[in-house]
Amino acid sequence: ANRTSRLPIFNNCCRGQTDRLSIALQKMNGSRWRFNKTAIDIFRRDLLEISHFHEYFTATKKNSPLNSFMYFFEKNKKVRIPVSGPVWFRLPKELPFSKDDRFNTCAVVGNSGILKNSKCSDRIDSSDLVIRCNFAPVDGNYTGDVGRKTGVMTLNPSILIHTYKWLLMRRDQDRFLRDMGHYGNALVYTNPFHFREVTDIVIKADLLARHRHARQKLYFSHPTYLEGVTEFWRRRNVTERRLSTGLFLTSAAIALCSQVQLYGFWPFSTDRHGNNIPYHYYDKSSINSVVHNISEEFGHLLQLYREGIVNITTHPCE
Ligand code: CTP
Repeated sequence: ANRTSRLPIFNNCCRGQTDRLSIALQKMNGSRWRFNKTAIDIFRRDLLEISHFHEYFTATKKNSPLNSFMYFFEKNKKVRIPVSGPVWFRLPKELPFSKDDRFNTCAVVGNSGILKNSKCSDRIDSSDLVIRCNFAPVDGNYTGDVGRKTGVMTLNPSILIHTYKWLLMRRDQDRFLRDMGHYGNALVYTNPFHFREVTDIVIKADLLARHRHARQKLYFSHPTYLEGVTEFWRRRNVTERRLSTGLFLTSAAIALCSQVQLYGFWPFSTDRHGNNIPYHYYDKSSINSVVHNISEEFGHLLQLYREGIVNITTHPCE
């Protein structure tokens, strides 16, 4: 039976929200998605203007001069991080994507357990650019569901701290480089300008990657872009102070791509048939994000789906 009528949300959010999302999903089931070029063009124009994507997507030698300061807002506190020599030295001259770079089709792969047994690999890998979150695995048993191709991968510094234990021991450094090795020539997008310890660990990861000739290249987010994209969504009534990686990357995909397809975005703890699914496709845990309200975000993504701006795959691909 199709139980889309009342799907349980991971963060046990309010009944009103469950009902709203479930109704939106039902409508989604019944209608064929239609791409709306005018709608995505207008959306992209506003997003580029407010987020300054083309000027600040990553920190460069030009937009982050030596001895200047990066400003980061954390819990209403303004944190000031200096662009010191060791940081500046690592910055590229140019942004990774120029104004003229436009990919035709892009896939953004969220980490939901809905991807398990989805067999979506071919569809994901046939996209011109594949964007993935938080060092999620693409090897072994996962490849058939999530594909392997990776153009952009985010690396939250907390992964360096918790999974790779501050990169202190040689075995953790090797594990980090081996895992990153699965992501082809990916641009690894990370955020060093949060507080000093985070800057240091990201610099260490970058040093390691260069020293050991990793094919992947680390890029540093610029706080002005993070601030801008958050402001863009705030104007569209997203109330979170810090956007989730998934919403953040969906925004980058809209900036870069003519057509955007999302996979692995699903804030519910069961599939449409009432079968339990884990929070992530790569672990059994039902532990979910305490930082973000992904069900609220999913509501906004469904709105983009309805407007013909992004397509969302929430069924198996075969
Ligand atoms: N996601 C989702 N449904 C899930 C799990 C994840 O829609 N059940 C999406 C969210 O947009 C999330 C992204 O996939 O941001 C990546 O998932 P995850 O690695 O779990 O990110 P978070 O733990 O939420 O952490 P953050 O967004 O701060 O990186």
